[in-house]
This record gives sequence, structure tokens and C-alpha cells, in this order.
Amino acid sequence: MSDVLLQATGLAKHYDTAPRLRPGRAKSLVRAVDGVDLELRKGESLGIVGESGCGKSTLLRLLCALERPTAGSLTFDGQDVGRLRGAALRRWRRRVQVVFQDPYASLNPRMRVRDIIGEGYDIHPDAIPKQGRRRRVEELLELVGLEPAHADRFPHQFSGGQRQRIGIARGIALGPDVLLCDEPVSALDLSVQAQVVNLLLRLQRELGLSLVFVSHDLGVVRHVSDRIAVMYLGKVAEYADASRLYERPGHPYTQALLSAEPSLDRIRNPDAPRRRRIVLAGDPPSPVNPPSGCRFHTRCPVVRDVCRQVEPELAQVDGRLTACHFAGELLGADDGVVNASGAGREG
Ligand SMILES: Nc1ncnc2c1ncn2[C@@H]1O[C@H](COP(=O)(O)OP(=O)(O)OP(=O)(O)O)[C@@H](O)[C@H]1O
Ligand SMILES: [Mg+2]
Repeated sequence: MSDVLLQATGLAKHYDTAPRLRPGRAKSLVRAVDGVDLELRKGESLGIVGESGCGKSTLLRLLCALERPTAGSLTFDGQDVGRLRGAALRRWRRRVQVVFQDPYASLNPRMRVRDIIGEGYDIHPDAIPKQGRRRRVEELLELVGLEPAHADRFPHQFSGGQRQRIGIARGIALGPDVLLCDEPVSALDLSVQAQVVNLLLRLQRELGLSLVFVSHDLGVVRHVSDRIAVMYLGKVAEYADASRLYERPGHPYTQALLSAEPSLDRIRNPDAPRRRRIVLAGDPPSPVNPPSGCRFHTRCPVVRDVCRQVEPELAQVDGRLTACHFAGELLGADDGVVNASGAGREG
């Protein structure tokens, strides 16, 4: 039996942003997500990191079928999600729930906490008998560290951290298998971030959830994730176990992201090796016209000719997947680079 729960293959979402009514309009495609292969295993926690605009939120919306992909496929427990319709699609939605970034905007200010958390029970009436809902909402509040009495209050009566706990209670109310968290702590004070992260980790353990945790902050993702996918301009640049990625990043982009982060390791342990700081020039290019070849080549500190012409595949090197022609060399790996189809090529 496979332990893969969600599997994305070549998943893409392109938005056509040209005005529809102009005759002879040229297509203007935003390649928000542009061919992503990803798998989420049962009970694991997968971090997705990358700069603003690289397609993290779009990818999450694809993973819970809030958006239809332009290309590629998504399977859940081996079942093709794209083929689900009507009642089957509704039943499936229960199993993959989302926690949004902004706890101020994502909770309806006119609804009581009880109704916010229990909203899913109206859409899925068979989830829990009507007479059990009241008690269940109160249990959920306790599970996320709030009090049953809070059920009758309104969102404005809570702090940001408490609101995000309410958002999380709503996310787990239907007993999902997967919780997709889109920058769940980015809007919160630093001191509160750790509490909410710890809550998510506890729930993941206690409820056996699979967690997808999106953030632009590698420091946060590191504490949450078993594995990490680093995204750049709609694609996965590197995909690895969290410890491997932090100890020896293989993609020049991951190396740059890590080098920019104030090193927690060095604060805890001043003897830890200092990372060479790599400054990336400029902003990421537009996803309307991604660069030829490797889409990171315009900012890459180790760019060579081939990078401008040939797009690197996500390939196995040194125990991780990296989309860089020179990953083998950068990592000093003796197994060279082997691409995903298993054929070797020079590293
Ligand atoms: N509905 C849409 N129509 C057109 N373009 C869109 C749409 N949604 C997203 N985009 C574009 O797709 C790209 C990826 O956006 P997305 O929100 O997925 O990025 P992100 O990584 O979540 O960014 P952030 O860190 O700022 O939240 C951006 O260029 C964005 O402008
Ligand atoms: Mg986003």
C-alpha cells in the first residue's frame, strides 16, 4: 500500500489576464504554477517556501481543488481528483481543508465563533448529528487552546493569535486528512508565531494529519516540516528532507535563501559554521514571460551558458531532487546527477 496521500503531476495553472472583449487580443498568460510534481505522504508535514508571487497560494488552491488546473493531474489516495463531480467532490473536500493567512480577513466579523467553526456542518450535514454539534464545537475550541465559553463571542473580541486558533478549529472541524496552511503565522507577532506553529504540530501528531505549510520564511518552515519544496517562478527548484536541505542546500536559489536568513544555529551555537551570504540581484522575473532555460538563470550567482538555453529537470542528486544543471558539482556529490527518469548525465 502506498503511503502517498496527495500526488501532483505536472500541475499547472495559467491565468489569461488579457481583456476578454478586445478583438484580436493577444493572450497574456500568467504562469502562476508551471508544472509541479509533488507528493504528500500520510502523516507528514511538507513545507513550501519561496518569494512572494512564486505561486505558493495558487498551488495550495490547486491541491484542494478550489481551482482547476490548466494542465497536469492531482490524485488523492490514488484517485483522480479532476474526475470527481457533484456529491463525490463535496465528500472529498471534507478531507482536505485550508487555514488561511490572515485571521482578520478570513473570519466573518458578523458570525459567532460557534457558527464560524461549525459552518462546515451545514455543508456536510452527515459529518455529525445536529444535537452533537454544540458540544463538538466546544471540544474543538479546547483542542486549539481556547475555552468553550468563547463559542458565543465574535471574532473582534480575540487577538490575532486567538483568531488563528479559531481558523484552525474550523479547519479541523470536519476531521480532514490534510490541512493546507497558507502562511498561517505570517500576520502574527513573532512571539505568537511559535505558539501557533506548536499548536499545528501538536494537532498533526494527535490527529494524524498530513500538513502542508506554506511560508516565505525558511526559518518558520524549518521547524514545521519533514520535507521542504522550494519554489521559484511557478516551479519546484529543490525538494528534500528538511535536515538535508538546511545542512547542504543543493540549488543555488536555496543556498541564497538560506544565506539571507539570520542564522538561528549561530545564535544558539556561536561555533556553528557561518554561511557565506549570497545576495540575489533584483526581484524575481515576471511569471508572464519566464526566462528561457533555467528560470533562475537571470539571478543565479553561478550561471553558465547552458543555463540560458536548457531547462534543468528536477533530478535526483545527493539524496534530494534539485533542478540545477550543476547541483552535483555544487554539492561535491560523487554520484553525479541522475535525472528523474533514472538516466545519468554529466554533473
Ligand atoms: N486569479 C489570478 N489572476 C491572475 N493572476 C494571478 C491570479 N492569482 C495569482 N496570480 C498571479 O500568479 C502569481 C503567483 O501568485 P500566488 O498568489 O500564487 O503567489 P504566492 O507565492 O502565494 O505569493 P505571496 O507570497 O505574495 O502570497 C503572481 O504573479 C500573481 O500575481
Ligand atoms: Mg500567497
